[in-house]
Amino acid sequence: MKPTVAVQTLPLFDPIADDLEAVVEKMRRAARVDLELLDTALAHVVASGGKLVRPALAIVTARLAGEAADYEKMISLAASVEMLHTATLVHDDMIDQAAKRRGNPTLHTILNPASAVLLGDYLFAQAAEWAAETDNVRVVRIFADTLMIIVSGELRQMWAQWDWNRAREDYMNRIFGKTAALFAAACETGAVLAGAAEPVVRALREYGRLVGLAFQIVDDVLDYVGDESHLGKPVGSDLRGGNITLPLILYVETFADDHWLADLLDGRRLSDEEVQEIVAHVAASGAIEASLQEAQRLAAEAKAVLQHVPPGPLTDILRALPDYVVRRQR
Ligand code: IPE
Ligand code: IPE
Ligand code: MG
Ligand code: MG
Repeated sequence: MKPTVAVQTLPLFDPIADDLEAVVEKMRRAARVDLELLDTALAHVVASGGKLVRPALAIVTARLAGEAADYEKMISLAASVEMLHTATLVHDDMIDQAAKRRGNPTLHTILNPASAVLLGDYLFAQAAEWAAETDNVRVVRIFADTLMIIVSGELRQMWAQWDWNRAREDYMNRIFGKTAALFAAACETGAVLAGAAEPVVRALREYGRLVGLAFQIVDDVLDYVGDESHLGKPVGSDLRGGNITLPLILYVETFADDHWLADLLDGRRLSDEEVQEIVAHVAASGAIEASLQEAQRLAAEAKAVLQHVPPGPLTDILRALPDYVVRRQR
């Protein structure tokens, strides 16, 4: 009997639900290993209720070019993209000292930080193996380049803690590295695998980059105004960790009406009460709407890029995604 796989993805991905189910199945199969502790830990994080946006992008872009993409290779690529994402989350949660992910306690809290490092590495290796299953050197190269960009983005973020110099400009570079690069790569590799024409590959990569930037801005907004039970992860964690994101940048630039904040943000560690206070001020200010407007501008640009992509039902999914991204609550 076919095992039931609960895929909690977005309604707009319904047309590719079977493909996403195959991706989740592949990931769950890989998480069953003959080492009890590893098996338990992997089951905890692999395909554990994420939205599957990145593998969906790989599938849609691979299917766009017609029937050119081999089915098994397409599933390997999509699983590789989601596994790479999962690995970065395991490491990111440890770096951010986040207690929850997708509503579950994080690995570094139920095991220990060293185990989380090694498990993250294991997942990266699994992702690389699946990228190689595509038998496409260009895909593998994009995979490797993307991983380097993600790591540089996370390093840049870590080294920019509390750094207000060029905060705005650095912000866009950082969110490209940590998030938009993978969105771009998911779209580019899907198109490459399907043998799409070069201008289409380039347009889809650019589309992914723009959607990814919007996605991270909204993630950063939700870190101020989101509902923890809905998000499945803590709010306020960016500020707690000294990560200066767009809502805070805009708040300080435009909406803060006195200097109390500058005194608080002088580089020292904030107390929980101070974090809560600042989060409440930013959340109640126009900085949220202004940040969302920036995300909407990028989402509109993403949709405009689709004029270089052949129209059809799959392109319609790509057209709907930016609207979802800027409205999402989780
Ligand atoms: C979380 O990504 C990390 C960011 C880049 C913001 P998602 O919001 O796509 O996480 P899941 O996979 O759906 O849990
Ligand atoms: C994560 O960014 C980006 C990654 C590359 C993992 P965040 O730190 O904002 O993601 P969340 O909010 O923990 O999901
Ligand atoms: Mg984080
Ligand atoms: Mg976040």
